[in-house]
Amino acid sequence: MDLIHTIPELQQRLHSAGSVAFVPTMGNLHAGHLELVRLARAHGATVVASIFVNPLQFGPQEDFDAYPRTLDADCAQLQSAGCDVVFAPSVAEMYSVPQQIEILPPPIARELCGAFRPGHFQGVATVVAKLFNIVQPAVALFGKKDYQQLFVIRALVQQLNYPLRIVAAETLRAADGLALSSRNGYLSEQERQQAPRLYAVLQSLAAQIKNGNRDFSALEQGASRELETLGWRVDYIAVRDAGTLLAPLAATQAFVVLGAAWLGKTRLIDNIEVSVAV
Ligand code: PAJ
Repeated sequence: MDLIHTIPELQQRLHSAGSVAFVPTMGNLHAGHLELVRLARAHGATVVASIFVNPLQFGPQEDFDAYPRTLDADCAQLQSAGCDVVFAPSVAEMYSVPQQIEILPPPIARELCGAFRPGHFQGVATVVAKLFNIVQPAVALFGKKDYQQLFVIRALVQQLNYPLRIVAAETLRAADGLALSSRNGYLSEQERQQAPRLYAVLQSLAAQIKNGNRDFSALEQGASRELETLGWRVDYIAVRDAGTLLAPLAATQAFVVLGAAWLGKTRLIDNIEVSVAV
C-alpha cells in the first residue's frame, strides 16, 4: 500500500492503475470505513482511500481542531482492509490558493443537518468535487450513515455530470445499535451507555410508520421529547421521503427517519430507511 501526500505523486501513481474505486474519509477510521474499503475491492482495479479533515465543512464553533488525526493507525487498518493507495494531503495541498469557487448544493442541503450546520454541505460538496477531479474514480463509495450527505453527493454527480458511479453502503453499528462514528470517541463512558438511545428512538418511530401511523409531526415530537427527557439536546427528528428527502407525500412508500441530537458535547446522527407496501 502506498501513502501519498501530494496531487502530482498521486496522479503519477494512478496513471496506469486501471479503474479506481474511491473511499473519501476524514480518517480516525473505524469498522464502518473499513467496510467501504472492502466493498470497494469489488468495484475497481485499484482502491484509493483519502484521509483529509476538510476545514471547509466545519463551522467556526465546530470540532475541526479537536477532530482526531490518527494517520499511522488508519494506514495499518487500511492496509489490512485491502486498500492500495492512501491519499492524505495537507490543507495547503488541497487549498493551495483561497477556495473562491465553491459548489452550491441543492436547497435540501439547507434543511435537516444543513439547518444546524450552515455551509456544511457546501464544504462537503466542494471538497468531494475536488477529490473526484484529483482521483478520477470510476466508482466512489459512501455510507448511508450520512444519509443527507449521500443525497447531496448523488446530486453533485448527476448535475455536474461526473463520469462515475456512486455506491452506497449500509450503516455499520456496534452490538448495542449505536452507529459507528469517529465522533463516538468524544463520549464519556456514561454517555456511551446512553448513546444507542438515538437509534432505539428512531427504530420505534420507524415501527409506527410500518404500522400505518402517518401523523409524522406527532411522531417526530414524541421521539424528540423522549430523548430530551433523557437529557439529550435534539437538533431534529424528521420523517422524510427517502427518494427526495422532502416531506413525505400521500403516495410515499420509501421513508427515511433521520435524527441528530447532542449528548453533552457530542453531536450524533443516525437514520433508518422504512419501506411500506402499497
Ligand atoms: P467520514 O465521516 O470520515 O466518513 C467517510 C465515509 O464513511 C462516509 O461515506 C460515511 O458515510 C462513511 N461512514 C461513516 N460511518 C459509517 C458507518 N457506521 N457505517 C457505514 N459507513 C460509515 O463523511 C465524511 O468523512 C466527509 O464528509 C467526506 C465525505 C470525506 C468529505 O470530507
